[in-house]
Amino acid sequence: MNDTDNTSKISTEDSDNTLLVGFDFGTSWTVVMTNRGHKERIRSVVGYPRDMIGVKLLGAPYLVGDDAFKKRSFVDLRAPLKDGVIREYVERDLEVARHLVSHVIESLSPRPDDEVCVIVGSPARATNTSKDLLAQIFQEVVDEVQVLSEPFLVAYGYDNLVNNLVIDIGAGTVDLCALKGAMPGQHSQVTVNKAGNFVDEQLEALITEVYPDVQMNTHVARAIKEQSGYVGDAPAQITADLRANGRPVSYDVTQMVGQACEMMIPGIIEGIDQLIQSCPPEDQAEMLLNILVAGGGSRIIGIDTYIQAALVDYYGDVNVKCVDDPVFAVAKGALKLATELPPRYWEKLGNVTDY
Ligand SMILES: Nc1ncnc2c1ncn2[C@@H]1O[C@H](COP(=O)(O)OP(=O)(O)OP(=O)(O)O)[C@@H](O)[C@H]1O
Ligand SMILES: [Mg+2]
Repeated sequence: MNDTDNTSKISTEDSDNTLLVGFDFGTSWTVVMTNRGHKERIRSVVGYPRDMIGVKLLGAPYLVGDDAFKKRSFVDLRAPLKDGVIREYVERDLEVARHLVSHVIESLSPRPDDEVCVIVGSPARATNTSKDLLAQIFQEVVDEVQVLSEPFLVAYGYDNLVNNLVIDIGAGTVDLCALKGAMPGQHSQVTVNKAGNFVDEQLEALITEVYPDVQMNTHVARAIKEQSGYVGDAPAQITADLRANGRPVSYDVTQMVGQACEMMIPGIIEGIDQLIQSCPPEDQAEMLLNILVAGGGSRIIGIDTYIQAALVDYYGDVNVKCVDDPVFAVAKGALKLATELPPRYWEKLGNVTDY
């Protein structure tokens, strides 16, 4: 996907041999944007052949993204991240991450004399070890890298840096960040592990409980959620075409979809409470009026009004809205920062968990 309109201006202003990249390395999707107008979303998976026949069929040692996903029946699909982070003790994960990162950077076709500089998004409360590992993997293939928190990057992209609160609902984690006009530190960020994948598991369990004969898995549950996920009042009846004992059947899953999506909300409200209470009292009212929801989970119907209603009783005036472009919000913020701050200063941004 190319979107030269957005970024071509930047490339002429910037040094011609600097390739700036905003890189959202997500549990389920990786999204990149560059100062040369490249804009792409890739599934965060790498597929490896299972045996010699697979090697022959693939014609390559591994495939990345959609190419791997399409051939999932005869490759081992591996995701590099678990709950948004690289598991440092799993050597295989590191290798998978290396393959994905190097493939994505290569696909940007850097020129031989290019300096490749990347801002990477990671979960808000990722440990320093996990961020260092991520940075090391990038350093093998790029010239400059800085790993920063995903919700901070969303806020940067929207210029929402003072008295704002961002909630990024991903597959592995929900990341919350309070923006107070400075780089957010430990106390301004919360990561909750009950996110999109958790909803999928809950939905699978709820449907199986009500319809014991149905053949369910988390992929099916995710597809239903992505099609019709909602919280609060059901916008319409949701009918799922499933299979029971091999036969096609249509089931009403309206109530289960709402219930599963709502199971994610208490963790989010707790995170908001924690962040609001960590702010100076004079700033809290303004922050409550500036809550932004991002990430794939922001597409759940009614999520902004539901979160707002859950907070209003306690706090009074609250305003919650969803980003207009959940797919690109992190990468867009990362590229904006990369463009506005010359790479030589990136090191000074420091490691956000140190503040
Ligand atoms: N229309 C939709 N309704 C509900 N959920 C959706 C919808 N579209 C995507 N999602 C969910 O959003 C999640 C993916 O969001 P996103 O791409 O922001 O995550 P990620 O960046 O890969 O993960 P993380 O940030 O946790 O590492 C998945 O759980 C997906 O099922
Ligand atoms: Mg994400």
